[in-house]
Amino acid sequence: MDCASSPSTTPAAVAAGGASAPKVSAGDLHSEVILVTGASGYIGSHVCLALLRRGATVIGTVRDAQRASKVTHLTRMSSDFGGRLTLVEADLLAAESWSASVIKGCTLVCHVASPFVVGIADRDAERTLFAPARDGTTNVLAMVARHNEAAAAAEFAGGAIASDYIPAVRRVVVTSSMAAVSGGRDWRKEGYGETLDEPEKEWLNLEECKSNYTKSKGIAERTAWDFVATLKAKAEASAGLAPPPFELATILPTFVIGPPLSASTATSHTVTRRFLKKELPAIPDLWFSTVDVRDVAAAHCAALTAPDAAGERFACWAQDTSFFEWSRILSETFGPMGYKVPRGRLPKWIMRIISLFDKEVRMMLPNVGVRSVTVSNAKARAMLGVTFRTQHESIIDHAHGVIRHEVDGVVQTAAWKQGEAEGKWPVYCGPGGGGGGGGEAVVVAAAAAAEEADATPAEAAAAATKEVSGGGAAATPEAEEETAAKDDRSPAVSTES
Ligand SMILES: NC(=O)c1ccc[n+]([C@@H]2O[C@H](COP(=O)([O-])OP(=O)(O)OC[C@H]3O[C@@H](n4cnc5c(N)ncnc54)[C@H](OP(=O)(O)O)[C@@H]3O)[C@@H](O)[C@H]2O)c1
Repeated sequence: MDCASSPSTTPAAVAAGGASAPKVSAGDLHSEVILVTGASGYIGSHVCLALLRRGATVIGTVRDAQRASKVTHLTRMSSDFGGRLTLVEADLLAAESWSASVIKGCTLVCHVASPFVVGIADRDAERTLFAPARDGTTNVLAMVARHNEAAAAAEFAGGAIASDYIPAVRRVVVTSSMAAVSGGRDWRKEGYGETLDEPEKEWLNLEECKSNYTKSKGIAERTAWDFVATLKAKAEASAGLAPPPFELATILPTFVIGPPLSASTATSHTVTRRFLKKELPAIPDLWFSTVDVRDVAAAHCAALTAPDAAGERFACWAQDTSFFEWSRILSETFGPMGYKVPRGRLPKWIMRIISLFDKEVRMMLPNVGVRSVTVSNAKARAMLGVTFRTQHESIIDHAHGVIRHEVDGVVQTAAWKQGEAEGKWPVYCGPGGGGGGGGEAVVVAAAAAAEEADATPAEAAAAATKEVSGGGAAATPEAEEETAAKDDRSPAVSTES
């Protein structure tokens, strides 16, 4: 397959990072303070959990710390991990909210936040999708660059004094999407049976792309690579006076499924929710390329530290999943518990009628009968050590999570509740995989307040958590690592990889 268009700056060009690029040590995250943007989101919450399980201290950004549906699970997560998770408020569209206090103390960054909404009309696309994707990425990376300048200045001015030491951010991992690789293609012309052997080398054709969400992902990722290339050029032109650029890696998931950690609505829950609620009378002939949210989170963790990951893109693809198989798996497990999952085939002409008043179905219509290509995930497996879960496990766990949190009005049947009470269903949060709450810890530290107190948000939160909850149930680092390894199935990346 040919590459429809190239970015103005290729990752490979940035990959070298310059001779002076900071070196990243592999594996251990215990000494790291990591900023995660979009911590409230479906993927962002899992990235926070995966990092905490690997021993990191995490600062998560949320838009509105007062919205219980978005932050309650994070407050609980913080308590479960001894206050190592702090929340700060920041909006992608408000440049001023990405201030020095948000990133204070951080050594690594995962930029996950970006709206994942489909079906946005052209007239609303700039405001709803493109601006947060493009300007949000610039705002976050500019904050990192300013922070590193301050770190370099402090070092130059005698950073040997411990109290003046500001650690620089070594690497940023951006959540992009397979949309930024292959979005906009007309698969009906290209045909099923093809394999995208080196997806990381391909770029979406922005001009031909018809989906505004897809475009937003292409725009965001190009913005990130261009930003780092510009920093690198500045550093080279400054003859060593400007700080070396931070490293960049991007993660490119297909459609993400797997257990949600909160009741928050996310586009990823659409299919499972529709099946469990029998919102469709029968099954359309549709196929989605899917990947498990826990494997995507594991890829983020590994990409932060794997030595060779700097300057690289990583496709995260597990399988091509048919809606028939999806409903069969759900029906088999959840049918006996009272969920009336549709099973018959939905003819396209009926879909056309439903699409007249159902936007989600309208968007699915062009893809009826179209299979996706196979996408090679060899690079993520080899360089990040990620093992991808099967669709069976992801679908079952996704459904349990959607039911547990009653996402989008999915109800808990009596039989499901009984299984939950008996501890039959897997749980996905907490240091040991348990969901125990333990105290109403107040962990939302306004960045400004932390700055006033001359403490990092992480320090402020840890103190607040201790005060309010009397200390969380912190697991030992060893136990956390063991759980992380078991749960995420991503062996620690060795320095040789
Ligand atoms: N889910 C998938 O299938 C998939 C696949 C490939 C890539 N991705 C990418 O993964 C990332 C997360 O998606 P998701 O599935 O986790 O969706 P999600 O649950 O809707 O999360 C989106 C996150 O972005 C935040 N956000 C949106 N607009 C913002 C703004 N103006 N300022 C600050 N934060 C803002 C949201 O904050 P609030 O909670 O305040 O709304 C939320 O935390 C996105 O970059 C998405 O493009 C997702």
